[in-house]
Amino acid sequence: MTESSKVDLLIRNAQIIDGTGAPPRHGDIAVTDDQIVAIGALSDMSAATEIDAGGKAVAPGFIDVHTHDDRAVLSDPTMACKVSQGVTTVVTGNCGISLAPLAPSAPPPPPADLIGDRPDQYFQSFAGYLSALDKEPPAVNVVAQVGHSTLRMGAMDSLDRPASANEVKRMRARLEESLAAGAVGMSTGLFYQPANAAPTEEVIELARALAPAGAMHSTHMRDETAHILDSLDETFAIGRAADVPVVISHHKCAGAPNHGRTTETLPRIAAAHAEQPVALDVYPYVAGSTVLDSGRMMNARRVIVTWSKPHPEVAGRDLSDIAEEWGCAQAEAADRLQPAGAIYFIMDEEDVRRVLSFPHAMIGSDGLPHDSHPHPRLWGTFPRVLGHYARDVGLFPLEEAVRRMTGLPAAQFGLTDRGMLRPGAYADLVLFDPDTIADRSTWEEPMQPAAGIELVVTNGRITWRNGASTGDRPGRALRLQDLGPKGRDAVMA
Ligand code: ZN
Ligand code: CU
Repeated sequence: MTESSKVDLLIRNAQIIDGTGAPPRHGDIAVTDDQIVAIGALSDMSAATEIDAGGKAVAPGFIDVHTHDDRAVLSDPTMACKVSQGVTTVVTGNCGISLAPLAPSAPPPPPADLIGDRPDQYFQSFAGYLSALDKEPPAVNVVAQVGHSTLRMGAMDSLDRPASANEVKRMRARLEESLAAGAVGMSTGLFYQPANAAPTEEVIELARALAPAGAMHSTHMRDETAHILDSLDETFAIGRAADVPVVISHHKCAGAPNHGRTTETLPRIAAAHAEQPVALDVYPYVAGSTVLDSGRMMNARRVIVTWSKPHPEVAGRDLSDIAEEWGCAQAEAADRLQPAGAIYFIMDEEDVRRVLSFPHAMIGSDGLPHDSHPHPRLWGTFPRVLGHYARDVGLFPLEEAVRRMTGLPAAQFGLTDRGMLRPGAYADLVLFDPDTIADRSTWEEPMQPAAGIELVVTNGRITWRNGASTGDRPGRALRLQDLGPKGRDAVMA
């Protein structure tokens, strides 16, 4: 045995799904340090740790492109909710909210309270946020965006109006500083109150800082209901004016009157995609989740309370039951629960399937890790796409499901050395059983690890094995400067 045939980790006898969408092939994978060093028939190699995959699947670690894990990666760094699904990288700072750059003097308004409800949880500079991750790394890699609402909170005394020219200037300076520190892009949450009064021009002015830095833009659009087509056009206009790749977050058509309208939105997105870099992400459920507000409730067929500051005991219960018990209308119950969060059943199953099947759709959980009774997407998204939608429903082949959570998002976010299995790539890996993989988190019991995930490796180190976190935290805060071009979606085999 020669020196070179000795590696750190060998996974033998695997069905290799490489992340490009290519059909699985049988073989072994060798890892040394944080890199994949060989793939193929590697019978001449040996390793300190050898694992027989028994013919099960090995794929690149999954990339969760839509998360609100900004604080969770610091407060709960083993990140069991994600590594238990095979996730090795999370994208944070979505929906307009991030923990930096901001030094709030009071608790920030909803929806920022979903990621940080206390001033001391925020970071005055983006560099400070990323170096906190360097010092206490989580089990997953982190790709962090700056939130537009966070920028507004830092620059404006009231959020219910457009930013003045001076305020835009100040926000842009902070955005540029954050990009220089390593933020990968800027997200907006134009739907939410802290940003709803921002005109398109305000976003464009800020987004113009992105292209020169090689950064990207993602958006929780202004409207996902009756005026969704206008919101799509606004998103495309921002992308074109700022010459920046855009990601439409958690694409959905919400509310019964809009069910079925993905037959309008997806062709519109496909047409834009032919002209400019546009992508979208989606979670595999018919319910959304965010802060509780009585206005948004109106179009939901069912509402489950996920947390409530004054009434923590009702987390997990239906709002209708709470209202009945309290002898009041649901809107009044919602007011009495404030501040609070909720799950809203607002989508149609056919729309969810159509969006999942869209060729440029990436998978993003949108999980809310600090909720006391979270939406099951926090623990179930990736296994649900692989088990339920790919294997059981047959929406697409397994290797295509894997591409939507690996090669495709890696290309979109410029993670050039991740999201694919090839020698030289970082050793972010998941070993799973295609026959048994399944989400086990439910509306009633949302914090259940998935079935069928046998081994998860981040940067060459094992984070999940035999149904439990190993406690190792090999994740890295990835900087914009370490990444490649964004907004590509043609994955080359
Ligand atoms: Zn959102
Ligand atoms: Cu979100």
